[in-house]
Amino acid sequence: MKQLVKNNVHWLGYIDWELESFHGDDYSIYNGSSQNAYLIQEEKTVLIDTVWAPHRFEFIDNLKKEIDLNEIDFIVVNHGEVDHSGALVDLMKEIPDTPIYCTANAIKSLEGQYGKHDWNMNVVKTGDSVDIGNGKQLIFVEMRMLHWPDSMATYMTGDNILFSNDAFGQHFAVEELFNDRADQCLLEKEAMKYYANILNPFSPLVARKIEEIVALNLPIDIIAPSHGAIWRDNPMQIVEKYAAWANNYQEDQLTIVYDTMWEGTTKIAHKIAEAAREVSPETVVKVFNCAKADKNEIMTEVFKSRAVAVGSPTNGNDILSSVDGWIHFLKTLKFKNKKAATFGCYGWSGESVKILKESMADAGFEVIEESISSLWNPDEEDFSQAKALVESLLK
Ligand code: FEO
Repeated sequence: MKQLVKNNVHWLGYIDWELESFHGDDYSIYNGSSQNAYLIQEEKTVLIDTVWAPHRFEFIDNLKKEIDLNEIDFIVVNHGEVDHSGALVDLMKEIPDTPIYCTANAIKSLEGQYGKHDWNMNVVKTGDSVDIGNGKQLIFVEMRMLHWPDSMATYMTGDNILFSNDAFGQHFAVEELFNDRADQCLLEKEAMKYYANILNPFSPLVARKIEEIVALNLPIDIIAPSHGAIWRDNPMQIVEKYAAWANNYQEDQLTIVYDTMWEGTTKIAHKIAEAAREVSPETVVKVFNCAKADKNEIMTEVFKSRAVAVGSPTNGNDILSSVDGWIHFLKTLKFKNKKAATFGCYGWSGESVKILKESMADAGFEVIEESISSLWNPDEEDFSQAKALVESLLK
């Protein structure tokens, strides 16, 4: 059912406590999520976004409990991805003449996904606005590549609400709706995970867009994203975090990622962690077996790190497929300004460290010369190299 956001603006979405993944299985979800749609009832009645297709009939039924669908003057589609546009086709069957406001790219994405319909499409660009009565307007701001070419935000004057769509969102189920009522640790963690795993590749664009939004000097009382908590308590805190995250973010952290065949590479990973504690006691150290740990959670830790150490034994003249796949994903996230070290065991040909160095350089990391490559089981001589490796990595 609808929940009050402010004055004549209500949340009307779907809180999904059962969702376990997103983008297929490419993004893990442990704390639920939501698809946030919003209903504005000024002199004009406006629907901003909808919900994912599996929840479309419940969404439309809930909408009907609040209003006669024919009262909707227009619909704003901030983004065509199916988690926000999934109810549109069935909704438009009921109100086929209702105008839709979206970017030119959103028309491509809607038609690409749902086919061509004879809908009343209205293309908007940054700065375009629509009067909604009572002295209030909706102003559109294109958010190209945050995170799709069709993405857009909508700003409501008078109530000073920025409907930001995916930007500033989190995959996080918050029944209490607002950031000040949410679990603060989870809120920050999920907002960062969302940024690291979805938005980081577009960080240069994020930085420019934030400068653009700040330069508009619009008062912002509420940031209402399309996933997770609505930011009403100090809403600019998430904008400030995005500004920091978009600028080659790092904390004093080392993340060690590896897979192993017969535990030799595990032993080197732990020895590197031990050396880091000795060389740089203030540095946070985290260790993950990437064949067992969640890849998105590891990426969030890499996002926070100033350095990583990546290990694999040699198998089939190459690295293990778990590590190879993980580095492939790492490359797509385009992390910058981070160092990397490499390590691994081998029994015969021993290519893994060389391949890891090439792969991590290809993923955009500054790979240090020092590495640990251990024949059969790592011994004290191998372990003794950990200190020099960590000194080079963290200096
Ligand atoms: Fe939440 Fe890009 O969709």
